Amino acid sequence: MPQRIPPARFLSGAISLPGDKSISHRYAMIASIAQGESRLRNYSTGADCRSTLNAMRALGISIEQDGAAVVIRGRGLDGLRQPTADLDAGNSGSTIRMLSGILAAQPFRTRIGGDESLSGRPMGRIMEPLGRMGASISARDGRFPPLEIRGTPLRPVDYTLPVPSAQVKTCILLAGLYAEGTTIVRETVRSRDHTEIALREFGADVRVAARSITLLGRPVLTGRDLTVPADLSSAAFFLVAALLLPGSILTIRGVGLNPTRATLLDFLKGMGADVRITEVECRNGELVGELLVKSSPVRGGTIEKETTAALIDEIPVLAVLGAASEQGLIIRDAGELRIKETDRIATIADNLRRMGVHLEETADGLIIAGGQKFRSAELDSFGDHRIAMAFTVAALCADGESVIRGAEAAAVSFPEFFETLQGVRG
Ligand code: S3P
Repeated sequence: MPQRIPPARFLSGAISLPGDKSISHRYAMIASIAQGESRLRNYSTGADCRSTLNAMRALGISIEQDGAAVVIRGRGLDGLRQPTADLDAGNSGSTIRMLSGILAAQPFRTRIGGDESLSGRPMGRIMEPLGRMGASISARDGRFPPLEIRGTPLRPVDYTLPVPSAQVKTCILLAGLYAEGTTIVRETVRSRDHTEIALREFGADVRVAARSITLLGRPVLTGRDLTVPADLSSAAFFLVAALLLPGSILTIRGVGLNPTRATLLDFLKGMGADVRITEVECRNGELVGELLVKSSPVRGGTIEKETTAALIDEIPVLAVLGAASEQGLIIRDAGELRIKETDRIATIADNLRRMGVHLEETADGLIIAGGQKFRSAELDSFGDHRIAMAFTVAALCADGESVIRGAEAAAVSFPEFFETLQGVRG
């Protein structure tokens, strides 16, 4: 459904956001293979995390959900049952890639697929390490969903990730839970470490030294009561909108500030953004705090090398910020963006051009000149949640009303996005 977005004068007030998508997936999967009940609060209300809950239900796990409150009755490492139909990961790369690690070790066969976007996303990156662990997986054209996974006992692996990917790391660690002995995953670029933290919370023996993660197989995992912090990647849309709209002052409560995710805040502050962090505490191994953002001019900069990997989900909205920044934004080393929910380099460039923004698209990034204004336009999410929300932010700053086609895609990670925005726009 097309969504009309009139320009906004400013944002003000205080908001809470849905639970972190990455952490929600991990808690749901691990709670399902832990023993006993887990109670999860502020579980992500997005469609992606619902796909994970539905997949775990189809694998025989009893799950009750009341909004953001989820109760999971875990059945232990060996308690999953063969599903009676194919598993549907929907739009969720995290569901299919991470859950495949668990499915590869089950004493049964499963098929798992998803929507059109997911069906075009590469799975070779998990098939290769799982293959080394003894897994038997076939895929459409050798690398695309649906995957046909014939579960089998796995052996531990010592694996160096060829691409920086927390989904792949998680897939191997979840498979490693089922392998007798020690599984080691080595990273050359540090990726988000929610799995390592969550596994420890549920009782696994996980050690991290430099960039190697060592996991002892066959642990006893025990159900827990956990609260999911608000999603910093969702907060990013509000942070950028508040920075760009003069006179904005916005508080965002209870946001996850895990250092492997918080590069966004360092990057914004490095560009001169007025973003303050208060009330920081550690909850279940994850840092959480309150953000206070005030509109401020930002200089612009370059996103490259490890910083690109650390900001990968925020690049759509940072591209919008870059166009309005003083000196513009250069994004390099971002080839991974081309294989997200959409080819985000292309979908960002297309929408920015519709708004009259000048930029250059490169093979693995974007060069966006600064000091540009946004013209009102007909925009398109292309079915991608982060594109829908990033261009809503651009539309708020435009010279007239814009329309976004497929804006409902926001519900993949943030169904309350438009309502939350409505509550703080001046
Ligand atoms: C995620 C890891 C990232 C990220 C995705 C969520 C995760 O993907 O883009 O939104 O929860 O582990 P990659 O592992 O493909 O980099």
